Amino acid sequence: MSDAIKRIGVFTSGGDAPGMNACLRAVVRTAHEYGIAVTGIFRGYAGMIEGESTELTTRDVSGILQKGGTILKSARSKQFRTVDGRIAAAENVRKWQIDALIGIGGDGTLQGATIFSAEHNIPIICCPGTIDNDLFGTDYTIGFDTAINTAIQSIDRIRDTADAHNRLFLVEVMGRDAGFIALHSGIGGGAELVLIPESNQSMEYVKKRILETMSNQLRSSIVIVAEGDELGGAVHIASSLEDDSSFDDIEIRVCILGHTQRGGSPSANDRVLASRLGMASIDALVQGHTNVMIGIVHDRITLTPSEAVWTQKKIMNFDLMKLADVIR
Ligand code: F6P
Repeated sequence: MSDAIKRIGVFTSGGDAPGMNACLRAVVRTAHEYGIAVTGIFRGYAGMIEGESTELTTRDVSGILQKGGTILKSARSKQFRTVDGRIAAAENVRKWQIDALIGIGGDGTLQGATIFSAEHNIPIICCPGTIDNDLFGTDYTIGFDTAINTAIQSIDRIRDTADAHNRLFLVEVMGRDAGFIALHSGIGGGAELVLIPESNQSMEYVKKRILETMSNQLRSSIVIVAEGDELGGAVHIASSLEDDSSFDDIEIRVCILGHTQRGGSPSANDRVLASRLGMASIDALVQGHTNVMIGIVHDRITLTPSEAVWTQKKIMNFDLMKLADVIR
């Protein structure tokens, strides 16, 4: 064990994700098991700069496992993108006598951690926390499973009303740069078509596919659109369809699921994943690792250099795209 670590700081950063609290709980409890004290830093890098922190004992993280959001709050800090912002954050980390940091967040968090650690020589280990599941170095991120379950529940409800009216619904799900939520919720929700940034479906193809579905089978249709799809999002696609006379007889509606996907109690899978990653982050730290992200690949804990996580792109499993297409 590394005796140099007497106190860690832990923070949640970027878009919150269900399971962040479960991860925090595991971090705090594992650290105390090793005799390491824990400072909780509020509002991610923003709170690090502004000096917002609290002592966290094992009791302080009781009753949070099942809670969505994050008790430490979260933020996207513009100031931390500046050299001066990071100097102010480092001064507070030193003032709090923190020897190493654990960050729970997505690609922005990882990028910040890599730069901050290099500039100020502060060891940082991250746990992947984002509903988008778009991080290289892990099969799953904390919050993804809950988000797709939330999306599927909404899609089921939309299916009822879509069927009742024989309508076409364009359902937009989150995923700024990636289609993992769209693809998984599309398969799980039985969508007739899934549009994701990773595949290049043209508007002509989209129109052809929707017309085929709706005319051949005389039924409703649900198209799942990832927020980051290059055709421009559900509202834009709907207006392109409405401008085309072939769609004159089809009633089109748009539903944007938005931040509903970010909230809610974490699923069982997310609670277990978050707890495993949280514990592994402290284990890795005491074993002397630094500047890595803890991931899970083929159900085994892995360590990936933080820089690789945000500089490399996670590969989409195109077998799933084929599946969505074949069983639509
Ligand atoms: O990164 C997670 C995410 O939920 C994305 O899917 C989405 O594009 C973004 O955050 C929204 O961020 P904000 O809540 O800051 O608007």
